[in-house]
Amino acid sequence: MQWSLCLVLCGLLAGTQADPGALLRLGMDIMNHEVQTAMEESHILEKMAAEASNPQTGGKAIKGLSNMKVKDVLEPVITLNFVPGVGIFQCVSTGMTITGKSFTGGNMEINVVLNITATDRILQDEETGTPVFRSEGCEVILVNVKTNLPNNKAINKFVDSTLRKVLPGLMCPAIDAVLVYVNKKWTNLTDPMPVDRMGTVKYALTSPPATTASHIQVDFSPVVQLQEGQLIPLATNGSSPEFPEGSAKDSQLLLSDTFLTAELALLQKSLEVNLKDKRVRKLSQTTRTLAGFIPQVAKSYHKPKPLLIKVKINKPPKVTMKAGKSLMHLHGSLEMFAARRHGKHPKSLFRLETHIGLEIHYSVHENRLQMATSLDSLLSLSRESSSIGDFQETALTGFITDYLQKAYIPVVNDVLHVGLPLPDLLAIDYNLSELDVVEDALVLSLKME
Ligand SMILES: *[C@@H]1O[C@H](CO)[C@@H](O)[C@H](O)[C@H]1NC(C)=O
Ligand SMILES: *[C@@H]1O[C@H](CO)[C@@H](O)[C@H](O)[C@H]1NC(C)=O
Ligand SMILES: *[C@@H]1O[C@H](CO)[C@@H](O)[C@H](O)[C@H]1NC(C)=O
Ligand SMILES: *[C@@H]1O[C@H](CO)[C@@H](O)[C@H](O)[C@H]1NC(C)=O
Repeated sequence: MQWSLCLVLCGLLAGTQADPGALLRLGMDIMNHEVQTAMEESHILEKMAAEASNPQTGGKAIKGLSNMKVKDVLEPVITLNFVPGVGIFQCVSTGMTITGKSFTGGNMEINVVLNITATDRILQDEETGTPVFRSEGCEVILVNVKTNLPNNKAINKFVDSTLRKVLPGLMCPAIDAVLVYVNKKWTNLTDPMPVDRMGTVKYALTSPPATTASHIQVDFSPVVQLQEGQLIPLATNGSSPEFPEGSAKDSQLLLSDTFLTAELALLQKSLEVNLKDKRVRKLSQTTRTLAGFIPQVAKSYHKPKPLLIKVKINKPPKVTMKAGKSLMHLHGSLEMFAARRHGKHPKSLFRLETHIGLEIHYSVHENRLQMATSLDSLLSLSRESSSIGDFQETALTGFITDYLQKAYIPVVNDVLHVGLPLPDLLAIDYNLSELDVVEDALVLSLKME
């Protein structure tokens, strides 16, 4: 009981304390696109026109008007504005013709141009944890009304007041129906997404989305979890990541270096190569090459033997970013073996501790962040053990560098090829985004096609 209470409370505390590891900023371009497509997908105005014309429902809607039909619904024009602290103010301008038989038996036609306005408040759904829009204060504003009835003040007044009474009930559900379509596009946002078979990433919200004058911002505290269930915490530093200045209007996604570091921890084991591993290639060099750097090798190996290397990664890889350049730091050990005759285990010659810096080149493919690396520098190399006596490890710098470039980096890139999942929302096609490495973060500028 106490334990389960802790699970709840500790979870809550951990949730509240977490710094965001990813930020999403949605500008007007994306919101417009989303609402417009939701409007088209929902066919909402056509549906409402049909509903209004249904003798069972709409037919009774306007008193004194029978056989009512709604036709010629005008292509709606949607205008959106951000309301700071609230969400979006939405105005749908449209028009239609309402026809029917008046109580006098004559054909009546009303041409009405109207605006439907509402405030779409953005919240966080308590159950699913995803962002959700809810409309408030829907109103119908009559912009223009024309009828084929005699232009008579009393009739005008009657038509006007009837429309004012009837139209909100007819039109406001349209706003809600469209929001259902917009909200649907957030539904998979907080689902865990796989990173290879090693684990998952879940884009959990840090707090409810916030609205400013130029965008909606969603802060994420991503949950990175190994397949066995263990959580990989994001190294927090007290400082939350921030968008670079000067691009407030654009839609952007920011991924912090600490978040990418946590994700790469999922791949740590895959970055190791063992001697039995198919990925370990026999080096083109032999003990004879090595003898050029370490004279002792010449004594032990008169005949050249193929060389093999085992790579162990001692710490989770770490990603760092400076404007325009991102590195992956790998701390590991390289153990060199000489192959022996069939059936005999290769003989360990020496083991070196290394710290290597790989430059990361980012791209996006199929809504996943792709990384490809190239060797930037061998930051340290020290001898940990040796079965062939003392030697100067610095003599091996060139040899090791060459090995890393030709044999090990391809292994790393192969592992990274799985890509890291990006937040799945609003049918954003990350394929079109521009990528920028800034201080401590990667920024994707999101574009609509
Ligand atoms: C109706 O909406 C349009 C587009 O937003 C706007 O230009 C117009 O002023 C509105 N009309 C009224 C009467 O509110
Ligand atoms: C959400 O995921 C389900 C199941 O994978 C899928 O069928 C659905 O299309 C997804 N929804 C969106 C909006 O991507
Ligand atoms: C900690 O924060 C400072 C200031 O933002 C930053 O420059 C530094 O890189 C961060 N350190 C780590 C380990 O993330
Ligand atoms: C992404 O862009 C590439 C090249 O620009 C293109 O080949 C690929 O089909 C695109 N993928 C998607 C899902 O749009």
